[in-house]
Amino acid sequence: MERFNVSDCSIIELDKHHSDRKGNLTVVENGITLPFDVKRVYYLYDVPGGESRGSHAHKELEQLVVAASGSFRVTLDDGKNKRTFFLNRPYQGLFIKPGLWRDLDDFSSGAVCMVLASDVYRAEDYIRDYQEFLRYRSVL
Ligand code: TYD
Repeated sequence: MERFNVSDCSIIELDKHHSDRKGNLTVVENGITLPFDVKRVYYLYDVPGGESRGSHAHKELEQLVVAASGSFRVTLDDGKNKRTFFLNRPYQGLFIKPGLWRDLDDFSSGAVCMVLASDVYRAEDYIRDYQEFLRYRSVL
């Protein structure tokens, strides 16, 4: 597995179709938008103000995180550096490479955090202990 750092992650501007009178539409399409094919979509919502989510890393999973509604903050950590992104536009997505710790917080009321993922749910892909994450990074 290649070793990625927080500097390898960035916000992708998604395709946005604008109509003056009828609103907007954003498309994410396999083979075009992302460097991975989407196998799973899940979304977080009704997160109480002040709560945080995430607090784990994935060994192989790639993800695109979108604020489909409202806003929240994502902090990525590669064991050496941290980088914080504020997501508040449904036509922007944060592309998260594998092997990075992530914390999500500062959810606005009504926020919907939509995640497009490169694989189905596999519990063994998670690292949920921060010390274990640091050990994992050191042997990557
Ligand atoms: P968890 O990953 O802990 O949420 P977060 O990291 O966003 O705070 O997931 C919460 C629960 O949902 C946990 O019991 C696992 C389950 N879950 C699935 O069954 N399938 C999935 O695709 C995801 C993302 C979670």
